Amino acid sequence: MNTVSTPPPYPHRTIKSWVRRETTLSSKEQDFLDCSPFALKSLEDLIAKMHQIVNLGKPLFLDMGCGDGQSTLQLAKWAPDAYIFGIEMHTPGLLKCLLKAHSEGLSNVFLFQGDILDVLEASESLIFDRMHLYFSDPWPKSHHHKRRLVQLKFLEALKPHMSSKTIVHIATDWAPYSEHIRSVLNMCQEWLNYRSQHPSNTINLEFKRNPTKYEKKGLAKGHVISEFYINLSETPNS
Ligand SMILES: C[S@@+](CC[C@H](N)C(=O)[O-])C[C@H]1O[C@@H](n2cnc3c(N)ncnc32)[C@H](O)[C@@H]1O
Repeated sequence: MNTVSTPPPYPHRTIKSWVRRETTLSSKEQDFLDCSPFALKSLEDLIAKMHQIVNLGKPLFLDMGCGDGQSTLQLAKWAPDAYIFGIEMHTPGLLKCLLKAHSEGLSNVFLFQGDILDVLEASESLIFDRMHLYFSDPWPKSHHHKRRLVQLKFLEALKPHMSSKTIVHIATDWAPYSEHIRSVLNMCQEWLNYRSQHPSNTINLEFKRNPTKYEKKGLAKGHVISEFYINLSETPNS
């Protein structure tokens, strides 16, 4: 058995939206991860793969904090012509997603273990057709609010990756986080539009996800799901 810990914190970022966890993988699991061409081993490999997809003229989707990849796999089946990049800090979720993608014969899912903020920074001006953030950790305690992923700096990090046809889709079941997201989005109204329904005049079709594990948990507790569809404000409103 090998023990894998999450990668060391990046020195320039002190507040994390994720928690460090130790993970134990069997040697078979470790080999599978090490040998899979769909598990990208470094930021450089990830960015090179993304550029390769763009050069093929194929749509590029990003599933940010993809967990065990339930929505990543759904997206891959919904849009077989697109390439989905699932980014997640923790190995077990990535491994589960990779195994499922392999057993279902999906070849348009690539996974990377790392912090989405580092990925956004390193991918510079690569344009994504869709960027999804589903059920991001709500960090409910007030002294943890600074750890929520959706902050001004996160939206600003998304901006260079958006074109007029890009849709950013955020969903949460935690009402106070939803309010927080709304207030941060309101700070960016100069350059973005958001609404609770998929804009009807985009060339992107609406992706209707099946509830993920976290979404189901929220629904079982009677939580209401908030959806935010975000695009650049140059795009005419519906
Ligand atoms: C509550 S889970 C939701 C997973 C999945 N999106 C779903 O709906 O099932 C949130 C995930 O985001 C990951 N995460 C949090 N911050 C992250 C970051 N900065 N970069 C990458 N993953 C992150 C966590 O490790 C966790 O697995």
